[in-house]
Amino acid sequence: MEEIINKNDSRYNDIEAWIQMYVCVCNAVTEREIRQAVELGARSLCDLKHGLGIASNCGKCVSCAHEVLSEEMGKQIPPYHGQLAFGPA
Ligand code: FES
Repeated sequence: MEEIINKNDSRYNDIEAWIQMYVCVCNAVTEREIRQAVELGARSLCDLKHGLGIASNCGKCVSCAHEVLSEEMGKQIPPYHGQLAFGPA
């Protein structure tokens, strides 16, 4: 992608906004949606599970969701210790 996008091009910001990273593939939850959930009050992986469905299927998204949550909250939140039961929220 770096090779085909000129970051000095004013259109770059539009392209960057368009590209979304999926954190939870099972539920099609993007990094941006997790950040928005934190803005709206989500403070834990349980909040993300109940609000967005994070970890409600295979659970492979837990560590990435935890990383985004910590980053968005501007602090390290307690590590995930398996307290989320996988399965429907
Ligand atoms: S990737 Fe999130 S539950 Fe499967």
